[in-house]
Amino acid sequence: MNVLGINTYHGDASAALIVDGQLVAAVEEERFTRLKHDTSFPHRSIRYCLETANLGPEEIDHFALSRNPRANLGRRVVHALKDRAGRQVAAKRASNLRKILRAKATLAEGLGIPESSLGAKPHFVEHHVAHIGSSFYVSPFERAAVLSIDGFGDMVSAMWGVGEGHHLEIGGEVTFPHSLGVFYTAVTQYLGFPKYGDEYKVMGLASYGDPEHMDVFRRIVRSDGLGYELGLDYFRHHVEGAAMTWDGGSPELPPLWGPAMERDLGPARGDGPLEPHHQNVAASLQRRLEEVVLGMLRQLHERTGIDDLCLAGGVALNCVVNGKIFDETPFRRVYVQPAAYDGGTSVGAAYHVWHQVLGRPRGFVMDHAYWGPEFGAARLKQALEDAGVAHAELPEPEILSQTADALADGKVVGWYQGRMEFGPRALGNRSILVDPRRAEMKDVLNARIKHREPFRPFAPSVLEHATARYFTRSEPSPFMLMTYPVRPDKVAQIPAPTHVDGTGRLQTVRRDQNPRYHALIEAFEARTGVPVLLNTSFNENEPICCTPEQAIDTFVRTRMDVLVLGDFYAEKREGPDP
Ligand SMILES: [Fe+2]
Repeated sequence: MNVLGINTYHGDASAALIVDGQLVAAVEEERFTRLKHDTSFPHRSIRYCLETANLGPEEIDHFALSRNPRANLGRRVVHALKDRAGRQVAAKRASNLRKILRAKATLAEGLGIPESSLGAKPHFVEHHVAHIGSSFYVSPFERAAVLSIDGFGDMVSAMWGVGEGHHLEIGGEVTFPHSLGVFYTAVTQYLGFPKYGDEYKVMGLASYGDPEHMDVFRRIVRSDGLGYELGLDYFRHHVEGAAMTWDGGSPELPPLWGPAMERDLGPARGDGPLEPHHQNVAASLQRRLEEVVLGMLRQLHERTGIDDLCLAGGVALNCVVNGKIFDETPFRRVYVQPAAYDGGTSVGAAYHVWHQVLGRPRGFVMDHAYWGPEFGAARLKQALEDAGVAHAELPEPEILSQTADALADGKVVGWYQGRMEFGPRALGNRSILVDPRRAEMKDVLNARIKHREPFRPFAPSVLEHATARYFTRSEPSPFMLMTYPVRPDKVAQIPAPTHVDGTGRLQTVRRDQNPRYHALIEAFEARTGVPVLLNTSFNENEPICCTPEQAIDTFVRTRMDVLVLGDFYAEKREGPDP
């Protein structure tokens, strides 16, 4: 039984395929089209999924979209009739919904077959049900409290409940116009970061400031039991709409913040200099998000009495909040799958069909993120030769020892292995790695390759069994979705991936999750005594490299020292930094 999940006409379009209940492939469309957060119909992702499972289009039994145009219909109509702006937004939304309902024709067209020969049955899964499914159904828990929080999907911004076996019981939701995702995005825009997906920059900036504006931020968002309410003066999406546009492929959002934001916090930053005031606003925003989300979680625990938690939605990518769950709520185990954002809803929609429509029992745990494309040795070699990059093919022990030597020598290493990661984080298969002991490596990476704002942190990968030696908590974080304090006595040992506030957004690495990456960190530890590497994604600013050609191009274009492409090792013979 083959079920295809699709996220489309929404940020981070993606496809995922499950065969007899087992996830076989999952990927975001941006990795193929090279348009960040691409929202289009994910034709390339779908073709990749089918090729991976060696299936023809006629073998898809079901396909599921992570949107349900009929969900919350009453609410949509009321909103549409409210005023002229509402009607305009509604008209735009209606055209999107028509597109969603035409999905079967669009799917057939992309697969190059007539719609009549596509036997697959379509399903429309409400957005947050797909988010929750993307976490709970692939979690290791038989029973868990579940919570999804994001901007909006099908008019809803948060949903919670209990998952048990292959059943989900929805306990409640927060609907338009109230949204924690909109709250974070609006203040992100006010702070001068207008691009879709810029929220993580503000999360990094927050560590530099003091939360001086909590009184204002407690008016901007008010807690309300398990839910929350926005102070609507601070926003304009409820008047003008928050409809995403994507004329160029990448999504864009209109300004979401309203006049009260400038009244209470001063003029918006625009493209002016970043001042301490902005850091303090960012710190207040982050603190308020933490207060509200951690408060919701305490309520959820009280209502359910369950110690295991599954999180999903864009807000679940806020690893600073996630890292505080163990200290500030009674939850003891937390699962967030690597693509907690909209990209992951393709997985949730497919599993919703498998469990809810087809009634099948659980039988799959997503314990790694490597569900994307992989390219064989012949393709890697050909790509190196075509680019004229001198290289050596080495047995694994040599690859590991040469790479560990280069890292310990302070070189910048492009590390490209196996299947690409699903989700926004590079987790050791499409990564750029450096020595975490060298404080200057953050600046070196920025000057040579990443060109990021200086306030943004880089992340550490640590062997799972060594987590407690370096961090104040030891709960695993395999998908780099938890931030913990670095032990004070270890900050001097790993300064490069330690953030200004003494924390690290860590990835814990276990041998069975990624044997080669685990072995590389072990080899680095054998040389240096430190079981940690600094790990950033293999790209400059574009979507993470997918193909070997893209990786080689990045290697050639930037001042990266070493490229390890599968079993091929290439090193530039260049002098030191000018
Ligand atoms: Fe979402």
